[in-house]
Amino acid sequence: MLRNFAKHLGDAPGELILARRDTSNSVEVADRQPLVKDRAEYERLHKWSVDDPQDFWAHMAHDYYWAKKWEANHHEYNFDMRKGPISLSWFKGGRTNLSYNCLDRWVAAGRGNQVCFIWEGNDYGHERTMTYQQVLTETCRLANWLRGQGVRKGDVVTIYLPMICELPIAMLACARIGAVHSIVFGGFSADALAQRIQDGNSRIVITASAVNRATKRVDLKAIVDEAIGKAAKEGYRDVQRVLVYEKSALPREQTPWVLGRDAWWHREIPQRPEYCEPEWMDAEDPLFMLYTSGSTGKPKGVLHTTGGYMVGAGTTCKYLFDLRPGDVYWCTADCGWITGHTYLTYGPLLNGVTNVLFGSTPAHPDAGRCWRIVEKYNVRVLYTAPTLIRSLMQFGDHWVTQHDRSSLRILGTVGEPINPHAWEWYHQVVGEGRCPIVDTWWQTETGAAMITPLPYAWATKPGSATLPFFGVQPVLLTDKGEEIQGPGEGILAIKAPWPSMMRTVYGDHERFEMTYFSAFKGYYFTGDGCRRDEDGFYWITGRVDDVINVSGHRVGTAEVESALTAHDMCAEAAVIGVPHAVKGESIYAYVTLLDEATPTAKLHAELVNLVKTQIGSFAAPDVIHWAPGLPKTRSGKIMRRVLRKIAADQLDELGDTSTLAEPQVVDQLIAKRLKTL
Ligand code: WTA
Repeated sequence: MLRNFAKHLGDAPGELILARRDTSNSVEVADRQPLVKDRAEYERLHKWSVDDPQDFWAHMAHDYYWAKKWEANHHEYNFDMRKGPISLSWFKGGRTNLSYNCLDRWVAAGRGNQVCFIWEGNDYGHERTMTYQQVLTETCRLANWLRGQGVRKGDVVTIYLPMICELPIAMLACARIGAVHSIVFGGFSADALAQRIQDGNSRIVITASAVNRATKRVDLKAIVDEAIGKAAKEGYRDVQRVLVYEKSALPREQTPWVLGRDAWWHREIPQRPEYCEPEWMDAEDPLFMLYTSGSTGKPKGVLHTTGGYMVGAGTTCKYLFDLRPGDVYWCTADCGWITGHTYLTYGPLLNGVTNVLFGSTPAHPDAGRCWRIVEKYNVRVLYTAPTLIRSLMQFGDHWVTQHDRSSLRILGTVGEPINPHAWEWYHQVVGEGRCPIVDTWWQTETGAAMITPLPYAWATKPGSATLPFFGVQPVLLTDKGEEIQGPGEGILAIKAPWPSMMRTVYGDHERFEMTYFSAFKGYYFTGDGCRRDEDGFYWITGRVDDVINVSGHRVGTAEVESALTAHDMCAEAAVIGVPHAVKGESIYAYVTLLDEATPTAKLHAELVNLVKTQIGSFAAPDVIHWAPGLPKTRSGKIMRRVLRKIAADQLDELGDTSTLAEPQVVDQLIAKRLKTL
């Protein structure tokens, strides 16, 4: 039964790789030559990419269709604030379109009947497939609708959709007409959505009536209404249309509706013409923005542009996962995060793969869900996050081994450091010891993978992202900004631009410069710490700034603190990340109440709720530690290092507390901590 399904995937030229159990112990797979065969070949390509980036990337860009070719000198940049504003360009003068390269190019090559998306919804049996031709038609119809609403090149469209085929379709429709998409992850609250709608001056929002996630229903449309209401209260009244996709989780009769503003997808879109002429975009025209958290202030709208992002996403996806058109590929990310942009939508479609889209949670309705999907669709490449691996490990190996995983060739991870235990399980149990683990380090800002193994090209080490991708020049810096040579540990920075790099913070170029280029002049500052070993392998050690990584989701401490202090009874709050067995890090909050307040379970719940409503449930603190005071330096800076040690119960590692304004605060916090244990 399962095997029969697989036949449909291969309705196109280019054979479907059928499952074949590999009994040898070799990591080498006999069914094809890897794109990069060994480290020597990698070194040669990497050298070319840094010695002559303009030539190297022009070479890679030939994989894609350009309506107009780039200029001879297409790459210019300034990475040093002392010499003027930070700026960079790739493929200057070139014109292209992402949706054309993701869709029309494959249809023109005779792959129109190849399955583009295989969708698996919340429960077993919720399935759907769409071919490249069908996705192209749907994209064009939506693009025509958007044009009909007056959306033009450069306008921002906010997308608040669950993981259904219409989500990447909405991205591609925006790209087709040059609109800038701004996706807001469906787990963000109405407040967070309101902020993003306003910041992007968005006139159009695309959403769904509701979605079932495991056993819970999330009323997305109601959240959109609330967000638009909140924005209006703050003076932003420009949302003109809300396009709503009907999901069976909430039928149309029960969906809240604003007459004149709201429109049903099923009424509006099918009537639109099924072809839409693409807007040929300049290489440096914006493609999308995506908000991400930093150590200070509100989330930043990270802006990516067309040509460089396309070539970066397409090239990395091809080499990281050794892709050929027709491969069955599954990235478990949600499109609300950068991984879903680069390695669920653009990268895979630029490579013509058959793409699995998963609209549920990994252990719903049981812990075998993911492995059943691998078996059913003959997944060749699986790309996921360490948190998913850790969460599934707990249920036991039999959930995995009862399914045939012989189609798997490459296993990727992203989002946070992977601990060796999880790495081994992924490698041995999931991959039967024969699939390379591609541990990719990168960021929303970098747009595409930066430090990563290339499968089969060299032996990896559990926990190391190994070597820089083509064109990437990582350096380790001391606190003073000196480059560390050879093995050592320091702050990870990047020396020169790469094509998929962000170009600015939407509407705030100064913030872009201050955040990434002011600490170390002449370098892009990543915010991560890193070690380099004697083989030249890189080991990411985690954030050096105030960003917490919860289940691979970035949360700024300042954002959570500002949500907590919004409570009338809260005088002050300090938030830190503590190690967590499944989530990687969890949020631990120290809260100081006003004198008249007493800590109660009710107050605890109210504080947690505030974080949920201002940001989203994923940012909710696991612990609230009632703190009589917070340890501060004499200049008033909270000493988070001390707070981290107390939370982790590493009391003998508190270090020097003599510079504290009130050292007794530490003893009080420890006493409280002991009581809660
Ligand atoms: C962390 C996700 C270790 C890192 C693509 C980075 C990682 C932040 C890895 C970016 C990895 C991502 N090993 N740490 N393989 N991948 N990180 O913007 O701290 O959501 O700075 O992008 O995640 O998170 P973001």
